[in-house]
Amino acid sequence: MARICIYGAGSIGCYLGGRLAAGGADVGFVGRPGVGDELRAHGLTLTHYDGGSWRVPLEAIAFSTEPSAAAAADLVLVTMKSGATAQAAAELAAVVSPNAVVISFQNGIGNTDTLRAALPGRTVLAGMVPFNVVRRSPGTFHQGSEGEPEVEEATELAPFLADFTRAGFALRRHRDMLPVQWAKLLFNLNNAVNALSGLPLQQELGQRDYRRCLALAQVEALALLSRAGIVPARLTPLPARWLPALLRLPDALFARLARKMLAIDPLARSSMADDLTAGRPTEVDWINGEVVRLAERFDRRAPVNERLVSLIKAAETEKAGWSGEALLAELRTSARRN
Ligand SMILES: NC(=O)c1ccc[n+]([C@@H]2O[C@H](COP(=O)([O-])OP(=O)(O)OC[C@H]3O[C@@H](n4cnc5c(N)ncnc54)[C@H](OP(=O)(O)O)[C@@H]3O)[C@@H](O)[C@H]2O)c1
Repeated sequence: MARICIYGAGSIGCYLGGRLAAGGADVGFVGRPGVGDELRAHGLTLTHYDGGSWRVPLEAIAFSTEPSAAAAADLVLVTMKSGATAQAAAELAAVVSPNAVVISFQNGIGNTDTLRAALPGRTVLAGMVPFNVVRRSPGTFHQGSEGEPEVEEATELAPFLADFTRAGFALRRHRDMLPVQWAKLLFNLNNAVNALSGLPLQQELGQRDYRRCLALAQVEALALLSRAGIVPARLTPLPARWLPALLRLPDALFARLARKMLAIDPLARSSMADDLTAGRPTEVDWINGEVVRLAERFDRRAPVNERLVSLIKAAETEKAGWSGEALLAELRTSARRN
């Protein structure tokens, strides 16, 4: 049986690893001591918004804080935040088997390249998790929105496909993951807007000025993607290029047309907002920062996303609470100054 290692056991790692283990796969987790204590005390419970529920008893959980626990793995799922990838890549390079397959199930665009650079000769694949996962209580991780894990197609995946199927995941495979990753990133540009608003997502997305901020950031990214010849994959019924127009609609019309987008737990905030609240570094350099880097490739600037990066950096030390009107004025000024 293939051995699977979850490297960076947090919300996504515990959910994916838990579902795989509940489906009968041989799964080990590498993570921080606090998470180990949590899983040893409570086991793992995985819940799904449609009512599904899976359980991994505590005695069935193999958890380690040591990178060496990844040495025996045939498949490594990398699931830490982007800022920790370089360190994790160096740790994996020292232990992971030459035949192991490594998949980054992280947001952003650059994590796979960071892993590839540190793991020459190994199969490193890009992955993407389209749904959100929250820790509801110790040991309980909840999938709050729809979607199936997406991954770069490779023959090396074949030995593991049955594990994903048994776990109930319809692993979606793509020859080119870049359009899929960028499509997700376009949505994740809202993480910064949400974190700066200080509001739950539902309230923030319910206000036209915040949505106009997101539309500005998306329009900037879409123009650069077009320049780069990347057509974002279609993750919603609406093609990505129409999203800004949808976002700019008046509140009542938006609420009617984008009911699904607003069907979020009323208290849920973006992970960037949670990171700011917890005093952790955010992933802004791997989300809005990716747009800034794409602009640099063409000797251009991405002033709206640049400003969002700098506002989030400022909010890492000083509490943010931007009104939609003030943030929109700030971003429009940045765009004009360019
Ligand atoms: N949560 C979601 O709903 C969601 C959905 C889709 C995609 N994603 C993406 O998935 C990735 C993971 O997100 P997450 O929310 O699961 O993050 P998370 O809850 O912070 O989990 C990551 C865990 O990995 C640990 N870690 C970091 N470096 C490690 C290392 N070298 N060895 C062992 N453990 C290490 C972290 O510990 P420290 O905090 O101490 O570093 C943390 O406990 C991100 O790129 C995120 O954007 C998340």
